[in-house]
Amino acid sequence: MPHKDWIYPAYRIIASCVFQEHGIPTDMGYAVAPHHSGVYPVHSQLYEAWKSVWGIKVTSTEEYPHLRPARYRRGFIHNGIQVLPRQTCGLFTHTIFYKDYPGGPQELDKSIRGGELFLTVLLNPVSIFMTHLSNYGNDRLGLYTFESLVRFVQCWTHLRLQTLPPVRLAHKYFQIFPDERDPLWQNPCHDKRHKDIWSKEKTCDRLPKFLVIGPQKTGTTALHSFLSLHPAISSSYPSPITFEEVQFFSGPNYQRGIDWYMDFFPVPSNVSTDFLFEKSANYFDTETTPKRAAALLPRAKIISILINPADRAYSWYQHQRAHQDPVALNHTFDEVVSAAPSSPASLLSLHRRCLQPGAYSSHLERWLHHYQPSQLLIVDGVQLRSGPAQVMDAIQKFLGVTPYFNYTQALTFDESKGFWCQKLEAGRSRCLGKSKGRKYPDMSLESRAFLSEYYREQNVELLRMLKRLGQPLPVWLRDELHNASWS
Ligand code: A3P
Repeated sequence: MPHKDWIYPAYRIIASCVFQEHGIPTDMGYAVAPHHSGVYPVHSQLYEAWKSVWGIKVTSTEEYPHLRPARYRRGFIHNGIQVLPRQTCGLFTHTIFYKDYPGGPQELDKSIRGGELFLTVLLNPVSIFMTHLSNYGNDRLGLYTFESLVRFVQCWTHLRLQTLPPVRLAHKYFQIFPDERDPLWQNPCHDKRHKDIWSKEKTCDRLPKFLVIGPQKTGTTALHSFLSLHPAISSSYPSPITFEEVQFFSGPNYQRGIDWYMDFFPVPSNVSTDFLFEKSANYFDTETTPKRAAALLPRAKIISILINPADRAYSWYQHQRAHQDPVALNHTFDEVVSAAPSSPASLLSLHRRCLQPGAYSSHLERWLHHYQPSQLLIVDGVQLRSGPAQVMDAIQKFLGVTPYFNYTQALTFDESKGFWCQKLEAGRSRCLGKSKGRKYPDMSLESRAFLSEYYREQNVELLRMLKRLGQPLPVWLRDELHNASWS
């Protein structure tokens, strides 16, 4: 027999001793914000205040992810406070007399007797409603509505109705819906109600117009520095905690919320012509990133750089060694790539982290699940390295950024570094630091042959995908597949 958890009526916490005098429970760990403000879209200060002043653990909202359609309302947990989805019961501050119910009293009765309110209880395993004090005075429509509803449900269904106090109800809710714990942040300015609820002090302009998603070791730092030379393009501020990159969508920073994210961006002087961007190279291959990025930045453009996945893996391995990773220091590259399931866990972990980002077509498919092909640009990393000015021209076109910036004049090839760098006055140049463009021996032929085979299927898929998308084929991919077909 199906059962229902049902909380009736919702509790409002008002710091007043009047409630205590009358035995009305006020210390239930549950609160609803005045005018619903700040529960969603999240106003971080509200959560902080609730936690530190009243020890609030549970709240509810009708707004996550949106007010309508009501059946899509979901819960989430933010900053330790469990937010439950709230349903609408049709009683508001102004609906206090039966005969004056909007559309006539029959509308309220219809909703109870098989209509919307009945269906809400029928279709939601957990229903939370909020009524107002005024619904308990006057014609007591609060009592009338819910008593009638309970009678109707009991008469016509086998549902077992239960009520639970808020903290236990929240526990139960997230037991039933464990996938809902992590919120999916959206742009508050894309929903008029959300914009109105949000603080007037806040703006949605401090969000990137495009993302450079990686993967790591393909030239993402070079691209970031070239982009930053453009007068209309501004990067996020460097993060002191995650190697300069913001890494919002890919890990625990996401739980900090969009205020935290927006603080990494300057307020643009002209929203339509200024291009804010962010580069986090692990976005490319982290499973949750495309979905989260598309929820907050559905119109963003996405730039990925690809080099031969074997070269990428080797560069990453050298990077780990340079950072004194003990497993990389103790194992040759050949050992890392050919690690078998029986190898030590630490070696297997390095093997996975080294090779997994190179499964390019699988990762890109995930991005294409959330973004239109026209929003995605795949840059050939070999070309970026050998002729960045042409690549930067293509990127400017893809972004639609103006004014045109002449990278042929802005960049120069630095012989001693062996890479393209920013051209300064008097024949000088500014190159990336020592950690980019490292010197190390060539990859062994055995490892190259092994990785060629290892990535063959993914590379073939990538070729198909790029043809399907009408994107140019990187020279390294043609070479790789051509060589592989002869081996
Ligand atoms: P190596 O150090 O293995 O040569 P990322 O910035 O994504 O970590 O990528 C680092 C790689 O960018 C370097 O790998 C280097 O080959 C490549 N790169 C491309 N253009 C570069 C440039 N102008 N200066 C330095 N490195 C560049």
